[in-house]
Amino acid sequence: VARAHSGLVPAIETYCDAHAGSVALAAPPLVVPGGEGVKNDIAHPLQVLARINDAGLDRQSFVIAIGGGAVLDMVSFAAALAHRSVRAVRLPTTVLSQADSGIGVKNSINMFGKKNFLGTFVPPFAVINDSRFLETLTRRDRIAGMAEVVKVALLRDRGLFNALEAHAGQIASDWQGVLEPFIRRSAELHLAHICGSGDPFEHGSARPLDFGHWAAHKIEALSDYRLRHGEAVALGLAVDVTYSARMGHLGRPVADRILALLEALGFELWDPMLVQLNARGTLAVIDGLAEFREHLGGELHITMLRDIGDGFEVTEADDTVVTEAIGELARRAGADVAHGSPPADSSPS
Ligand SMILES: NC(=O)c1ccc[n+]([C@@H]2O[C@H](COP(=O)([O-])OP(=O)(O)OC[C@H]3O[C@@H](n4cnc5c(N)ncnc54)[C@H](O)[C@@H]3O)[C@@H](O)[C@H]2O)c1
Ligand SMILES: [Zn+2]
Repeated sequence: VARAHSGLVPAIETYCDAHAGSVALAAPPLVVPGGEGVKNDIAHPLQVLARINDAGLDRQSFVIAIGGGAVLDMVSFAAALAHRSVRAVRLPTTVLSQADSGIGVKNSINMFGKKNFLGTFVPPFAVINDSRFLETLTRRDRIAGMAEVVKVALLRDRGLFNALEAHAGQIASDWQGVLEPFIRRSAELHLAHICGSGDPFEHGSARPLDFGHWAAHKIEALSDYRLRHGEAVALGLAVDVTYSARMGHLGRPVADRILALLEALGFELWDPMLVQLNARGTLAVIDGLAEFREHLGGELHITMLRDIGDGFEVTEADDTVVTEAIGELARRAGADVAHGSPPADSSPS
């Protein structure tokens, strides 16, 4: 972000000078690497903590984080640890972080090869979405973030889904001025969940907004974070939509409509990580179910779909049907799955 907006760092300093009566910049802005790598090495949050310590910040101070979801997760995590939580203000700079993670209460880094293993639940003090940041995003990052918008539409808002379908072509290509209402609606729905679900800190085992995420988190880690979170979420959605259809929860035409929307937005609904094998010779992605259960504790709770705008919780997943669903996605994509092949499809689709 600092590279794409070269005037940003000096502008922060100029702003603070100009408002010296009400804000004191305790330390010069610290530029950290962007992207998932910043969550994969604990040296990064330690560097932020050292800066907080050196600047003598206290619990009335603020750490302001500007960046994509990865930077916000890492900096908010560090801020949450210092003095048992220095206030964090977030300025999300990607579609994904403006539509979803920026307004969340979770702060984390990855450890032991597991996504978000180390983290805290601390709400940000404030979140500021400025759409001008989005102008410098690559097409890849712009599209990736839309996966979370599709996800929340599928769970909560049929009208949003219809609007996504109507504008998919524009979103994928001629996007300027098109994204804002979608990002706003998605942020509202995520915020409504945090404020109104009765369990913002996930004391229960359910994570109703994490549709598609048991697979997404595993695929991301399996790909060594080659895939963006949003790209992995699109794959996870495709798996769970196909699974929901095969289980008879979701009508086949509805499932096809959802997969078609993801493709129209520019997502690839196939990646070789879906058929990567583990040491036992079974699909490694399915280990994501056990990891998801371990992360949440208690019974497995995953969200499935009955219709667009109508998600519901299940407490078990049938590995065989998941494998069949992945096989179906492989055939749909015309993928060559000779190495690490999913079992042949024996049942009618
Ligand atoms: N805490 C939560 O509740 C929550 C929810 C969803 C996702 N997440 C996390 O968010 C992360 C993904 O975030 P993301 O999709 O924003 O990707 P990202 O943070 O990895 O950023 C993607 C790339 O875009 C660059 N970038 C960011 N803003 C830019 C801008 N304005 N112009 C040009 N380049 C820019 C970054 O440097 C990086 O290279 C994942 O780690 C995911 O787990 C957290
Ligand atoms: Zn997500």
